[in-house]
Amino acid sequence: MKVYVPRDSAACSVGADEVAERLVAAAAGTGAARDLEVVRNGSRGMLWLEPLVEVETAAGRVGYGPVAAEDVDGLVAGGMLAGAEVGPYLGLVEELPWMRRQERLTFARVGVVDPLSTVDYEAHGGLAGLRAALAMPPADVVESVVDSGLRGRGGAGFPTGIKWRTVRNADAALKFVCCNADEGDSGTYADRMLIEGDPFTLIEGMTIAAYAVGAAEGYVYLRSEYPDAVATLRAAIERAREVGWLGPDVLGSGFGFDLQVRVGAGAYICGEETSMLESLEGKRGMVRAKPPIPALQGLFGRPTVVNNVLSLATVPAILADGAAAYTAHGVGRSRGTSVFQLGGNVARGGIVETAFGITLGELVNDFGGGTSSGRPVRAVQVGGPLGAYLPVEQFDLPMDYEAFAAAGAMVGHGGIVVFDDTVDMAAMARFAFEFCAAESCGKCTPCRVGAVRGVETIDRIVSGTDRQQNLVLLEDLCELMTDGSLCAMGGLTPMPVRSAVRHFGEDFQA
Ligand code: NAI
Ligand code: SF4
Repeated sequence: MKVYVPRDSAACSVGADEVAERLVAAAAGTGAARDLEVVRNGSRGMLWLEPLVEVETAAGRVGYGPVAAEDVDGLVAGGMLAGAEVGPYLGLVEELPWMRRQERLTFARVGVVDPLSTVDYEAHGGLAGLRAALAMPPADVVESVVDSGLRGRGGAGFPTGIKWRTVRNADAALKFVCCNADEGDSGTYADRMLIEGDPFTLIEGMTIAAYAVGAAEGYVYLRSEYPDAVATLRAAIERAREVGWLGPDVLGSGFGFDLQVRVGAGAYICGEETSMLESLEGKRGMVRAKPPIPALQGLFGRPTVVNNVLSLATVPAILADGAAAYTAHGVGRSRGTSVFQLGGNVARGGIVETAFGITLGELVNDFGGGTSSGRPVRAVQVGGPLGAYLPVEQFDLPMDYEAFAAAGAMVGHGGIVVFDDTVDMAAMARFAFEFCAAESCGKCTPCRVGAVRGVETIDRIVSGTDRQQNLVLLEDLCELMTDGSLCAMGGLTPMPVRSAVRHFGEDFQA
């Protein structure tokens, strides 16, 4: 019998390893140990149910969660290993409302498969995209991605296929594919969960990108704060080499590609693509001026695809099922699905992959169940620490790049952090400047100096010193930082500040 206990670091942080150990011991006690196979899968993304144990039955996988290690003996004695309705029994996992309402394309295998099993990967549709790509001329692969409407999931939403076309058309003997896995935005964890739960999908996506643009080498820039993801990805790359998915002759096609993992040292700015390239080259992570864009002069000055984990991990599904199938999802110019991440003061935090167009309110209330404190929701921040704070009055806003931009906000990497009515929005605006001051690379004045002046200005406003005058000064500073900063770090810091002043002005009173 197969029993699944996640090895995802979110599940392990609440005791999944202990639960797995206890299961084996308890099964030994009942004599069922010989038949028991404990599979350490990724997380389904229902984080409030972790550790979520799943038992394979004739009807499908039934879930129990959250399971505490000390309850395992009793659950096993009560028939959990046979799928009995004991303890925190949830029923069929695929039938849970949270799962049924989602459209999982990028995350289709996360939580389902053993992340390091090549057999499991292929049995669940893995490699179909790469095989389809290798049967096409590389330029057609690029055009498929263009036709799918896929836009960069790192936050900026630039069309992935257009970026690949630029790299493909660049005249150079050496090109690179770099995956940005420096997931630094607060409230985001989808990159980590994908790498820990289904790393072969990222490897497949990077291989397709390399074939499409004519690159032979790839790098994944992974943050040091994700040690489990680093270990899982390194192990997956090793296995992919062993079975010929990576190396000089990928799947016997004659096309060669290999990739390496590089671990960042923890600077937020190394998630900015040019800083990341500097860091990959062994230098201090400082922002480069653009142009030239990395697509033309990237790693070591060569044409380079720089894409986020989710962008690359979505490509296999696009090639496997065709661009039309992907573009059938979504609204306006936001095609396909996006992986939203619910966090902060929320009752049910986790991963929601749905088509663009779902509203903010549906995500926070229907999926998230409101706050974990039970108090009313007052604000949500969407798109990381540089994203806007939105009030509940804007909960009918659809998750769509253009709709968010029109509302003075951004979808970003899809992180949604929930706050209840005890939040002090002036303190949150101050935090935006503090964060910028701490993480600024220091290259340009509006950001390096502006962030510090911003903290001082907010302090004067809340202390009542020349309040009106300082509010005008604050808006001037925001305008200067937006227009004059070299990169999004300084350029977007005003977004949370301005949204806090606009929607929650009462918190800026003395
Ligand atoms: P950008 O708009 O300058 O560029 C977007 C991408 O398109 C870049 O890769 C750029 O090189 C590429 N590009 C632009 N013109 C191109 C062309 N003609 N041909 C080929 N490629 C082209 O935005 P940037 O500064 O790279 O990213 C800003 C975004 O990053 C923000 O909107 C924010 O949402 C996001 N962000 C994400 C974080 C995370 O942890 N995922 C952290 C902080 C910010
Ligand atoms: Fe560096 Fe800030 Fe200027 Fe970006 S905006 S280049 S982080 S100083």
